[in-house]
Amino acid sequence: MRKKILAANWKMNLSYADAQAWLTEFKSGNGGMHEVEFRLYAPTLYLHDLAKSEVLSVGAQNVHPSVSGAFTGEVSIPQLISVGASSVLIGHSERRLYFHETNAFLKDKVNACCQQDFSFIFCCGESLETRQSGEHLDFIKGQLEAAILHLDKAHLPLLTIAYEPIWAIGTGQTADTTQINEVHAYIRQLLEKHFGEEGSEVSILYGGSVTESNAQSIFACPDVDGGLIGGASLNAHTFIELAHCFK
Ligand code: PGA
Repeated sequence: MRKKILAANWKMNLSYADAQAWLTEFKSGNGGMHEVEFRLYAPTLYLHDLAKSEVLSVGAQNVHPSVSGAFTGEVSIPQLISVGASSVLIGHSERRLYFHETNAFLKDKVNACCQQDFSFIFCCGESLETRQSGEHLDFIKGQLEAAILHLDKAHLPLLTIAYEPIWAIGTGQTADTTQINEVHAYIRQLLEKHFGEEGSEVSILYGGSVTESNAQSIFACPDVDGGLIGGASLNAHTFIELAHCFK
């Protein structure tokens, strides 16, 4: 079933003390919003403590597809599970761009999640150049064909998709609702075409400079099921307020 999801992506921000303070503020402020699923994608080294608090569902910003082995600096799905994390981001544009993660590597991560029954948000989105060339839909289709459309239907409940146009991430420049809905509707059609009815049940989030001032119109788009929130998630109060922006 399509769920309303608000996912905080802290990226490489906040100290351990800041994270504890955020949690305290979140705990006292989110009463009664049971219709929205809150998730927190925090730095890996905070996951254990954040998950132990049982205040909200906690996930990692990255994972290696192997179960264990000589991969210095990496972390595996069993390790994430062992500290209470329940999901992971895959394919964020910053991982693709700065860490040269290829479609093939992302497919390995997706397959590892499916094999180990671990939920994930798969991120896709085009650059400004691709958008201006008018090829953004084909580009996004390519990203999904490379890592998602081969999945077995049985694994779809593990999948959430986030559409994040690269030009809107951290720039203060949000895609307008026509642009957002065009892409979300396109992704949903693709999922339906490949997976049938089950495909239409996948939640599709929007990400890229979502704030309190634009969230209401973005979340009102018929094919938007929530947001992947960077900057505006660093303050617990602001993050919670976004939940009030769902109709
Ligand atoms: P932003 O980040 O909200 O700061 O634009 C979103 C993201 O990168 O997930």
